[in-house]
Amino acid sequence: MDQHLLNDRNQFRDLLQQTLETAHKHLNVIDSKPPATDRFRGDDLSLPDEGLGGAETLALFNQRYGDQMAASAGPRYWGFVTGGTTPAALMGDWLVSAYDINLADRGNSVAPAVELEAIKLLRELFGIPDDFMGVFVSGATTANFAALATGREWVSRQQGKSAAQEGLYGLSPIKVLSAAPHSSIFKALAMLGMGRTSVVQVGKLPGNREAVDIDDLRKHLAALNGQPCIVVANAGTVNTTDFDDLKAVAALKSEYHFWLHVDAAFGGFAACSPRYQHLMDGIGGADSITIDAHKWLNVPYDSAMIFTRHPALQASVFQNIAAYLGEMGDEPDFLHLTPENSRRFRALPAWFTLMAYGKAGYQEIVERNCATAASLGERISQSNLFELLAPVRMNIVCFTLAGERTSALIEQFLTALRDDGRVFLTPTVYNGVPGVRAAFSNWRTQESDVEIAWDALQTVAEQIRQGTY
Ligand SMILES: Cc1ncc(COP(=O)(O)O)c(C=O)c1O
Repeated sequence: MDQHLLNDRNQFRDLLQQTLETAHKHLNVIDSKPPATDRFRGDDLSLPDEGLGGAETLALFNQRYGDQMAASAGPRYWGFVTGGTTPAALMGDWLVSAYDINLADRGNSVAPAVELEAIKLLRELFGIPDDFMGVFVSGATTANFAALATGREWVSRQQGKSAAQEGLYGLSPIKVLSAAPHSSIFKALAMLGMGRTSVVQVGKLPGNREAVDIDDLRKHLAALNGQPCIVVANAGTVNTTDFDDLKAVAALKSEYHFWLHVDAAFGGFAACSPRYQHLMDGIGGADSITIDAHKWLNVPYDSAMIFTRHPALQASVFQNIAAYLGEMGDEPDFLHLTPENSRRFRALPAWFTLMAYGKAGYQEIVERNCATAASLGERISQSNLFELLAPVRMNIVCFTLAGERTSALIEQFLTALRDDGRVFLTPTVYNGVPGVRAAFSNWRTQESDVEIAWDALQTVAEQIRQGTY
């Protein structure tokens, strides 16, 4: 055995202890570290002929990058819709790598039981009926991909074919109807050979809404003259957390022929709070559902779930048959249900955090995040430096600079804000207006963070306005 490898094996406990110290040092100051930084600028490294061993490698990492690692899991990273990592999720995640079990199949270990149990707990958290099968994938984009692949298979079967077996060549083009689909839907359709242009944009409700206009959806479905299609309903749009009326969309299935996919990547967490759970009413009418765990569940990347009522159809798409992998059987192994074959034991951090904090814990996180979003929204609505672009419905504040607000100015503002180091936000364009999104989904965020961020926002906006940045 290589000498460094041998030494490291003999000093495993010590190395883990040193790693723990590094992690703890970061977590200890995560509230005050900048949530984002500029790119790394430094010399290139070359692959060493002789390795350094674990301890020296850790020292090198700390010296080269460690102190500059941003607090993107901290309380004032409000870009995209990213959560952090709860203490229990981190405990679970560390064990994932220690166990390093391949969750491709259901046998030969107790680990698959943990995945099935975590899925059951998640169904309870989200109020998803028991007849939905669930499985972990790497993120909501992959979940959307898997769901649309299964929906594509369903449509092709309605046409008397199988896209999974024969490809798309003999099929009529498959339409995908949606009012405000997330960009990952287009990406998934590109990967699936259905093409980005298969999306048919359905009208939205009037009055600054992003939710689907049910009458317009009905018109689009009727125009297909019985041709089966896919409808993507949105349970939490990325700019304003607006929800389609899931019940009304699902009710249309009795009249029209479609696969209903619900992208509830982060909006699914509305189910955790009595205040918002009505937004998820009708979720049981879906054929497939996407929910991200690395968003509001606050587990580390990469973790999301696809839930479906059609496990056999899903397996017909993702099956991976080889003599050395054995028969698929009535209860397909995980590798027959997802794009991945070998799979990380990503259910474990989810299981840990769900058991550690339970329903009450997640209700509290969701409601606190929404209260802090409302607080920022209130400050913005009363400020002459900013303007809200949409009402704050749940956890996202979509706003822009008052007065001039070109994309270039927004970019300048956001770069200056990042360099200020107190809060990190990302840009958007809403109804044609360049703006900014502040997304609240981190378990650490409190009202005191809004105060710190608000001070930073005003200071930087003044600098931009006066041209002093
Ligand atoms: C509604 C929605 N769907 C899908 C995604 C894609 O998620 P991921 O980055 O986990 O692939 C996101 C990410 O923000 C989202 O908000």
